[in-house]
Amino acid sequence: MKVLNQRVAVVTGAASGIGLALTRRLAAEGMHLVLADVEPDALEQATALVRADGAEAIGVRTDVRDLGAVQELAARTIEEFGAVHLVCNNAGVETGGSFLEIPDGAWQWVMDVNFYGVLHGCRVFLPLLAQHPQAHIVNTASVAAFTSGTATMTPYCVSKSAILSLTESLAVELHTAGSTVGISLLAPGPVKTRMPDAERNMPDGLEPAREPHRVALMEELRTKAQQAGLEPAEVADMTVQAIRDNQFFVLPHREMALAGVRRRLQWMETGELPAPRKAGT
Ligand SMILES: NC(=O)c1ccc[n+]([C@@H]2O[C@H](COP(=O)([O-])OP(=O)(O)OC[C@H]3O[C@@H](n4cnc5c(N)ncnc54)[C@H](O)[C@@H]3O)[C@@H](O)[C@H]2O)c1
Repeated sequence: MKVLNQRVAVVTGAASGIGLALTRRLAAEGMHLVLADVEPDALEQATALVRADGAEAIGVRTDVRDLGAVQELAARTIEEFGAVHLVCNNAGVETGGSFLEIPDGAWQWVMDVNFYGVLHGCRVFLPLLAQHPQAHIVNTASVAAFTSGTATMTPYCVSKSAILSLTESLAVELHTAGSTVGISLLAPGPVKTRMPDAERNMPDGLEPAREPHRVALMEELRTKAQQAGLEPAEVADMTVQAIRDNQFFVLPHREMALAGVRRRLQWMETGELPAPRKAGT
């Protein structure tokens, strides 16, 4: 997708972190923006910020778990701007713990936001994107999609692997069909965002895991992300370049992603179980 100026983008999870940085970067390219997020106050502030940057923007409170809400998001986008050219399925959450301690509701929440949120975005927006000679989808996974066995983060890893598989399959299908819609998989490692506090959006009745080793690991991840993580704006720059170049894999932490793939390959080749991984390594 070479031309971004005056085109329309929808970004989910746009009120914070990578989604907000992406939104502001796309606004700087002259795009009109639809910001979608489940947090109303943060969404309002983010929309005001993007407007202050000089872009035409609306905020639409959206829970991506809900197919009807994503359909409503598409309807609002068309009503406001008449078209949609780029969709970034970026909203994501994380919770976990030791395998048998993870309640059913926690699995449901992570899969509903991370996997079904992306699936809904692809299914609802693809017919609208396909109406244009140039359009693009970005699905946000994580290096966790490539790296098997991250301690206490099993639901997150499962959901991100599912996004990888969905996005690869869709890319092949779109390419084979000669579609005008390009697609990218964004798979970062640690980025300085509010992701370590993702449990702030947990549905009622769910509690963050309090197992000491999970709490310690999350604290370590938080520190590591703040000390050594990329800035969201850097990830946004790489993503916009990938949209322009129709590049499938967007790997801000390329070595981490490749190490994860090698780890699995070595496991397959030698049969030897790899050492447990810690998040952010
Ligand atoms: N930060 C990292 O280190 C990192 C690494 C790899 C991948 N990612 C991925 O990047 C994406 C963006 O996360 P981030 O790091 O910017 O975190 P963040 O918490 O700063 O932003 C995530 C946004 O998603 C929104 N959200 C949560 N549930 C939602 C729902 N049901 N519907 C709509 N919006 C919802 C939140 O309100 C928040 O604004 C996620 O998919 C995450 O898994 C992040």
